[in-house]
Amino acid sequence: MPVYSQTVMDHFMNPRNVGEIENADGVGEEGNPVCGDMMTFYIKVKDDRLEDVKFKTFGCGAAIAVSSMVSEMAKGKTLDEVMEITPQTVADKLEGLPKNKFHCSNLGAQALHKAIEDYRKKQKKGGK
Ligand code: FES
Repeated sequence: MPVYSQTVMDHFMNPRNVGEIENADGVGEEGNPVCGDMMTFYIKVKDDRLEDVKFKTFGCGAAIAVSSMVSEMAKGKTLDEVMEITPQTVADKLEGLPKNKFHCSNLGAQALHKAIEDYRKKQKKGGK
């Protein structure tokens, strides 16, 4: 049984920003084909900043804690700052993840980055 930090347990038991944003400006989905876990991020953008972030995760406890932490790290940041969030910075904020659970932290940053790419693509097309 992996040993989780208190921060991981806290975000797993009380995940922040769970849910969906209606008419989101960007949506990003990422899955892990090995374990089958899925994560979706929804973002609202205002003045190049993430005004709101929500997520839905069908996954293990670590994946839920990761999504919750990523959403907190990303809220209020500029899009460029959010693109700098990596699996490692998320794991560090969670005070570490057990080695065999580190892959779970990949999903969070990737799904969020995809949501931003989705937003940027829509902007280029000239509409939401
Ligand atoms: Fe699949 Fe954690 S075991 S994301």
